[in-house]
Amino acid sequence: MRSQRLIHILPEQIASQIAAGEVVERPASAVKELIENSLDAGARSVSVEVEAGGRALIAVADDGAGMGREDAILSLRRHATSKIRDAADLSAIRTLGFRGEALASIASVSRLVLRTRLAADPQGIELLAEGGEIGATRECALAPGTRIEVRELFFNTPARLKFLKTVATEQGAIAETVQRLALANHAVAFRLCADGRVIYDLPRAGSLLERFRQLFGERLAAAMLPFEGARDGVRVAGLAAQSQHSFPTARMLLGFVNRRAVRDRILMRAVTQAYQTLVPRGRYPAVALFVELRPELVDVNVHPMKSEVRFRNSGAVFEICHGALRDRLADQRADDADEVAAALPSGRLAMAAVTHPEFTLAPVAERANPAGALPVAEANGHREPRLLRLVPDARETPRPQQPPLGLGFGAQAHRGAPECAAGIPDYSKLKIIGQLFAGYIVLEGPDGLMLVDQHAAHERITFERLRAELGAGGVRVQALLTPATLELNPARVVMVEASLAELGAIGFELEAFGPATLLLKGAPAVFGAESGLRLLTDMVESLGEPGLRARGETAFEEWLKQLACHGSIRVGRHLDFPEIAALLAELDRTEFKTNCPHGRPVHIQFGRGQLERMFRRS
Ligand SMILES: Nc1ncnc2c1ncn2[C@@H]1O[C@H](COP(=O)(O)OP(=O)(O)O)[C@@H](O)[C@H]1O
Ligand SMILES: [Mg+2]
Repeated sequence: MRSQRLIHILPEQIASQIAAGEVVERPASAVKELIENSLDAGARSVSVEVEAGGRALIAVADDGAGMGREDAILSLRRHATSKIRDAADLSAIRTLGFRGEALASIASVSRLVLRTRLAADPQGIELLAEGGEIGATRECALAPGTRIEVRELFFNTPARLKFLKTVATEQGAIAETVQRLALANHAVAFRLCADGRVIYDLPRAGSLLERFRQLFGERLAAAMLPFEGARDGVRVAGLAAQSQHSFPTARMLLGFVNRRAVRDRILMRAVTQAYQTLVPRGRYPAVALFVELRPELVDVNVHPMKSEVRFRNSGAVFEICHGALRDRLADQRADDADEVAAALPSGRLAMAAVTHPEFTLAPVAERANPAGALPVAEANGHREPRLLRLVPDARETPRPQQPPLGLGFGAQAHRGAPECAAGIPDYSKLKIIGQLFAGYIVLEGPDGLMLVDQHAAHERITFERLRAELGAGGVRVQALLTPATLELNPARVVMVEASLAELGAIGFELEAFGPATLLLKGAPAVFGAESGLRLLTDMVESLGEPGLRARGETAFEEWLKQLACHGSIRVGRHLDFPEIAALLAELDRTEFKTNCPHGRPVHIQFGRGQLERMFRRS
């Protein structure tokens, strides 16, 4: 009888390629696995070199234990590991690796050269592999340790290759990977070079704070508060930023469990809740949070890339993290102001850089200019239609405010309110009842009760102003009285540099000032120069794929949306009646006023009839 068999076991090489899909998602994941192997081998120094965002080359060299000839050959096989022996070991993992998959996976999708030497051996061994097929092996001269070169990653998996992002993005991801590993292993020296340029050169550090300083710069380091706590066999420790520092993304929330960088919802929640009411809604602090617990109490084998964990008792972990942070943040006043000022290098400028002052909405035009009145023409021919502008809190700016600049608005955006089509309200004609949850303006109209989202409203106003300026020849720039320096996160230098043209076009006049520092000389006038640095910091922090991928006009719209979002008043800001009136008047002079630039509604309405029905009146 003829065999009816359809099922067969895949060849080892194909199985590895499939596994590689899970373990090696992008160059940064290969970098992570290789560095983890170096750390597991007891390296005191790890050096990483990449070319073309890791596509052309990833080389990781260490001074760890190295391997003998047989181990070296075995190490490229799937399920080959020196780190666990039996199932029991799986429940108490003390190494970063344990799955025995990484090298096999990486080898199966690249051309790989492995050189390694045990300290006791006179020579090293060199091994070549292509698409997982081990070729020639020979002796080589090498210092004790291991050096692995991965060339042409994904050369034989075109589908993967297609999913890679720009060189700048992949390189950024690699730098962030190195950053996290370096933070968790401060006693190990790290070096990262990308296309011949040194991104990190970190000598062994004596403490977490010292390593943090090496990675993120003096200014942020000076604002970090050490914290710790322990209970029920769980120990937490780390650094938490003083609450006046906040970031527009969660990128600076760095969580570690047993020295393993993880993305964990429990840890993230503990941090964000600890900072609740301390940082504005929608913004995030900087925190490096290390949780240490007996390996039996946490399962690290829940994710092929080992970037997620499962706690036996997640409630307890949350409580301890949250409690330790809360305790530390409660008394941050005790040692912040003086200490920070003392620790900072140069007076005002530095201070301006560390604080991200909150911005208040201040009516600029006199009451004499009734809401809704057309803007007064100014002597220089520029019209000054602005009733509102963002100015830093009084406590941040003792000096008198400069008069707002005239803004060369394009014709379309700020003509008198176009006659409203039916259904589009004249916001400024409605009766102001007040503010709700410090985020919504409550209005009474002929048709019922209306809530206006203050952030969405201001975002649209700002966006249209910027768009009009751009259309009329460019976003207007206001020069800073004293240029301010911006220290860049080295992991993002390339990405930022790749975006200098766009940042320039939206009004940030920047100059390189050292390898990871920029000098800000001018900022979009619409926000006032004082807020330029904070805005720029936010823009740089939230630089991401969408902004970089888009081209041409859509790209600028994306940038403007971001800028408008960061520069607009937030939920959580108390507004008094004149401020509300000014905001609504301005809104009525703006096109597309019923939706924010992301398309969310500016207002919602509860009809009178609807309310009456709820009270069973009709
Ligand atoms: N840099 C290195 N130095 C010494 N040994 C290494 C190094 N990299 C890999 N190895 C050895 O190769 C084995 C396989 O590595 P890998 O595929 O990453 O699996 P795992 O780390 O899960 O054990 C490791 O268990 C280790 O014994
Ligand atoms: Mg490994």
